[in-house]
Amino acid sequence: MANVVVVGAQWGDEGKGKIVDWLSERADVIARFQGGHNAGHTLVVDGEVYKLSLLPSGIVRGGKLSVIGNGVVLDPWHLKKEIEGLRGQGVEITPETLMIAENTPLILPIHGELDRAREAQNSVAKIGTTGRGIGPAYEDKVGRRAVRVADLADPATLESRVDRALVHHDALRRGLGLEPVDRAALLDALREIAPTVLEYAAPVWKVLDEKRRAGRRILFEGAQGSLLDIDFGTYPFVTSSNVIAGQAATGTGMGPGAIDFVLGIVKAYTTRVGEGPFPAELHDADGQRLGERGHEFGTVTGRKRRCGWFDAVLVRQTCATSGVNGIAFTKLDVLDGFETLKICVAYELDGQRIDYLPTAADAQARCVPIYEEMPGWSQSTEGARSWGDLPAEAIKYVRRVEELIRCPVALLSTSPEREDTILVTDPFED
Ligand code: IMP
Repeated sequence: MANVVVVGAQWGDEGKGKIVDWLSERADVIARFQGGHNAGHTLVVDGEVYKLSLLPSGIVRGGKLSVIGNGVVLDPWHLKKEIEGLRGQGVEITPETLMIAENTPLILPIHGELDRAREAQNSVAKIGTTGRGIGPAYEDKVGRRAVRVADLADPATLESRVDRALVHHDALRRGLGLEPVDRAALLDALREIAPTVLEYAAPVWKVLDEKRRAGRRILFEGAQGSLLDIDFGTYPFVTSSNVIAGQAATGTGMGPGAIDFVLGIVKAYTTRVGEGPFPAELHDADGQRLGERGHEFGTVTGRKRRCGWFDAVLVRQTCATSGVNGIAFTKLDVLDGFETLKICVAYELDGQRIDYLPTAADAQARCVPIYEEMPGWSQSTEGARSWGDLPAEAIKYVRRVEELIRCPVALLSTSPEREDTILVTDPFED
């Protein structure tokens, strides 16, 4: 019996939705372990389109337990909206199918305001965030002034937690020229939303321990991508959580031994939204074409994604930092029809060839990609369901990627349809 962690191995938007859905059908428990409603997963199940930001993908399937772990930051008002939206689509959500860790920190309206106020200043501090308050909520978590799910149950505790947070926030808001927080309104809003959240609150670490002991299959569903990791990403242009696979343990309350297989989701080319370094970024017709063919617009913010060739240096690095056992390679069909393809195999930094992304931001900005060229293919790979359906050049491209990133392909996805997948290794059975 295996527990599987799924992580994005680039800057997010690798096509996790379809893969997670495919795996969640075969899992008993699906757990989110980091991030919040900055994520955007689109699932197509039996022709119905579901858009999820906060809830685990398993929620749309009956008979599964979906879990929001303590590593997530939770916006209670967004939670209510997402639950109501899904119920409107006929999805059943009950305390038996959804559990939220009692020690999950909340995203309050003041976090979103702060996030957007900082971004609007257009100063050196601009990150290009989703504006959803993710960073400020994590700041309060490590600053030991967060309001957590369990605090909603007791009015006196809730007041004291809010006061603790406001000492900090009012000082900060003065500096940004914002009004002080309306304490009474915030407390009223929290008291009003409390029952919605508390209905699903549970000691998640304990439930997961029991599930694991009973031999249930757990799928840990990562959001964003490893290059947005707070420690190993392109800091400071990152999200505010650990995104890499190790976080699956910390973000749910399980030991690292509970993880049997790490599946990295890797797109056949590279994209990124928001600011920050991107060595293989294209500003030409090829980049334009990748964006158009790949429909590269953000699900959460609608922003156009920056596009570039496949960067093997970065993926080799993220496969290492997450301990990826196999990759799910997605959107290969977007490369159909290119006469020549390029893969970034190394960087040139100040006249030296290097095989990893340096940590210092100025060095990252000076990295010039070194490309290897490969012949493209004219046939369509869309909808291929076996290696035999793929042109020889496409197979060569995939094999070269495996070699460069030092990690095998476990799954190859050739369209948004679930059946259009070539399975090499089943992560749950490996
Ligand atoms: P934040 O997570 O809203 O603080 O945004 C920080 C950075 O992460 C920005 O560059 C965002 O564009 C990026 N980001 C956050 N969530 C996602 C995601 O789900 N996909 C891709 N990029 C994301």
